[in-house]
Amino acid sequence: MAKLSPSILGCDYLRLEDTTKILESVGTDMLHLDVMDGQFVPNMSFGVPVIDSIKKHTSIPLDIHLMIDRPLRYIEDFAPYADWLGFHFEAGSDVDQTLDVIKNAGCKTCLTIKPKTAPEEIFKYLPKCDMVLVMSVEPGFGGQGFMPEAVERIKTLKAEIIRQGLETLIEVDGGINNTTGKLCVEAGADVLVVGSFLFKAEDLAKQAKEFLEM
Ligand code: DX5
Ligand code: ZN
Repeated sequence: MAKLSPSILGCDYLRLEDTTKILESVGTDMLHLDVMDGQFVPNMSFGVPVIDSIKKHTSIPLDIHLMIDRPLRYIEDFAPYADWLGFHFEAGSDVDQTLDVIKNAGCKTCLTIKPKTAPEEIFKYLPKCDMVLVMSVEPGFGGQGFMPEAVERIKTLKAEIIRQGLETLIEVDGGINNTTGKLCVEAGADVLVVGSFLFKAEDLAKQAKEFLEM
């Protein structure tokens, strides 16, 4: 069974406290927080103040997905809140150095690739990655359709992680529902980020429970 990391990007932000309580009660494994700067991606979301409030109201481990340009500049700002701190391979910071700074700050590292980046490009960084995040949509917006090529990309990374004898987890993000989620898990994904499929449902608790039981 894969771990569930709900993305709150599409939730009602005035109801964040209830939302996190519901997700906590169904036993979600992590909470996925999408930070967008309007530069690396053509959209903006939230930053440290919102994450600070979330952290005060939940014990769910936080899985922060930085979609920001030159993320190294901000690692120390987000690290106090993050259990998992992820940034993009394509975002213009030195990858080795950024992974080291995240590790030294006491967080688990997560290196993320956009749909058009070849998985082979990050093979050499895998020993420093606690997790890799395979984007199955172009980052920036929730509610997009799953790109089926992600399945092969997950398989390629899984084979390499096994070949190198590592325990790096594979997370997948974008267009995940019970059908696409199953395909990803069969391909080797360990963590599923789920946004619209949960938050567009009438009953969040019921939908999350059903997803966890799938
Ligand atoms: C997109 C974000 C995702 C998004 C997922 O750039 O990284 O985490 O919220 O939402 P869905 O599940 O709707 O694709
Ligand atoms: Zn995300």
